[in-house]
Amino acid sequence: KKILILNGPNLNMLGIREPGVYGSQSLASIQENLKILADTLNVELTFFQSNVEGEIIEIIHKAYGNMDGIVINPAAFTHYSYAIRDALSAVKLPTVEVHLSNIHQRESFRHISVTAPVVIGQISGFGAHSYELGLMALHNKLIERVN
Ligand code: DQA
Repeated sequence: KKILILNGPNLNMLGIREPGVYGSQSLASIQENLKILADTLNVELTFFQSNVEGEIIEIIHKAYGNMDGIVINPAAFTHYSYAIRDALSAVKLPTVEVHLSNIHQRESFRHISVTAPVVIGQISGFGAHSYELGLMALHNKLIERVN
């Protein structure tokens, strides 16, 4: 199985950016840990991060036919990008949305996820571990679909 790990704006600044909210681990380090988990699950990961909405949309389009599923942290785009939501709907790839912080515990503008209705589910609030939980959840879904 091939899984795309897709990260939105400002997540390249993890480790530096508001460590009290997002933790002190860098995105590179999170990705290293995900690789170890992926090996045990026997899945192949492709990593992509962008601060640009259009690039994220294009990567979602390119995933069509090339990937079996997506783990996405759309970051701030979660709350207002109808275009990313529509891209996810268009390709219909099984997708899990993840957030380091618990978006429902924070400012009210973060309580809304426009992408949540078009994904399998959302994991929010477990720090870097949200990505691992997301990968495991997606993997389980993909196995279910095959059987
Ligand atoms: C985030 C939560 C978003 O509200 C925020 O804009 C981010 C990161 C998270 O992982 O907790 O950039 O998606």
